[in-house]
Amino acid sequence: MAATASTPCARPTPLEEVEIDLLLEAVHRVGGVDFRDYARASLRRRIQSQLRAQKADTITHLLDKIVHDPLCMDRFVLGLSVNVSVMFRDPAFFRALRELVFPLLRPWPFLRIWLAGCSMGEEVYSLAIMLAEEGLISRCRIYATDINERALAKAREGIYALDLVQRYTQNYMLAGGTRSFSEYYTAAYGNAIFTPALRERVMFAKHNLVADGPFNEFSLILCRNVMIYFNRRLQDRVHHVLCDSLANFGVLGLGAREALPFTPLQNRYEALDAPHRLYRRVV
Ligand SMILES: C[S@@+](CC[C@H](N)C(=O)[O-])C[C@H]1O[C@@H](n2cnc3c(N)ncnc32)[C@H](O)[C@@H]1O
Repeated sequence: MAATASTPCARPTPLEEVEIDLLLEAVHRVGGVDFRDYARASLRRRIQSQLRAQKADTITHLLDKIVHDPLCMDRFVLGLSVNVSVMFRDPAFFRALRELVFPLLRPWPFLRIWLAGCSMGEEVYSLAIMLAEEGLISRCRIYATDINERALAKAREGIYALDLVQRYTQNYMLAGGTRSFSEYYTAAYGNAIFTPALRERVMFAKHNLVADGPFNEFSLILCRNVMIYFNRRLQDRVHHVLCDSLANFGVLGLGAREALPFTPLQNRYEALDAPHRLYRRVV
């Protein structure tokens, strides 16, 4: 039986597996975006919700729509990327950055930082605030990249709904913020507009971790909550790109559900703070 919009998310049938393979092949060859090595279980949930959103009865019907209608393809590609983020996500991670990593980076004359998978910029502004408070921002260049152009456009604006700010303020304080969080934004029309000075040292650009390679040498790379959506093969590829992009003694920060042990490159790093997923490249 072909998978339908109302099929519950039980185990995929062999036919559904074939339909998904064909769908992802078509998205790769026609839409130019390669989801083939994304983790199947979460990908499948998002395909199911695309069936409903695009009013398709089966995955094959959805395939037919997206290969013949560029707008459907666009909606599909956007629907498949998960852009959930918050400012100072996992505040203890940011506290560890401030207390453990920044002192190690302070002697470097210039800091190149890469935020890979920066989504709508929440992590970018969080980091810029901390670097400013530690007096490091004027020596930094931050490269904030994502595969999703719409997310990058939002990130460049730096405007977030005002009702999120209470949570962001709490996270900021838990992360060791030293000022009043309201200094960093202006409230207008239900939005918090973050001060443009925070992005003076930031360059936003499209970069696809599936297909693109290293593009610079960095002192600090954060790639958090991105690889959880990838299968093991793709995670290994991304680990190579990140490691090849780090200067010796540069620091890598991963998300709470991502870790270096058992990856092919674990021997190239030492753990600076394993619970907070902070590692330093040593070879
Ligand atoms: C859940 S968000 C994580 C945002 C932020 N790093 C954080 O931890 O809150 C995952 C981001 O990874 C991006 N992403 C997914 N696949 C990607 C790829 N192949 N290359 C670059 N970014 C990708 C998505 O567009 C999304 O913005």
